[in-house]
Amino acid sequence: MRNPDSNFNQNLRINSVQRGRRITLMVNGAPVPAFEGESVHAALTAAGIQNLRRSKTGSPRGIFCGMGICYECLVTINGVPDQRACMTMVNDKMEITTQADPLESQPLDTTQGGEKR
Ligand code: FES
Repeated sequence: MRNPDSNFNQNLRINSVQRGRRITLMVNGAPVPAFEGESVHAALTAAGIQNLRRSKTGSPRGIFCGMGICYECLVTINGVPDQRACMTMVNDKMEITTQADPLESQPLDTTQGGEKR
């Protein structure tokens, strides 16, 4: 199965749209182009990065509502976890890390068959 995050060099933007200054984000340690005025969501989507975190059952999660309601787009930005990609504007040299599971640090609930809460 193809890893949708394996090609950061995609550009899915519409070429005729005027944009701000070109900047560079670091996503999981790799440079990703972005433009001032874009949300992190827009920049990641334009680069073909779809998997932003994993649910507690391990299924991949990404952009859903695009307007700050669903919290499916949580990423770590400049070391701060659980930031909504759709509600955060890009900055040059911003460091973004996709999250495996935002609940990962919580202890296992052994009364529920070892499932995380
Ligand atoms: S996509 Fe729903 S909160 Fe970001």
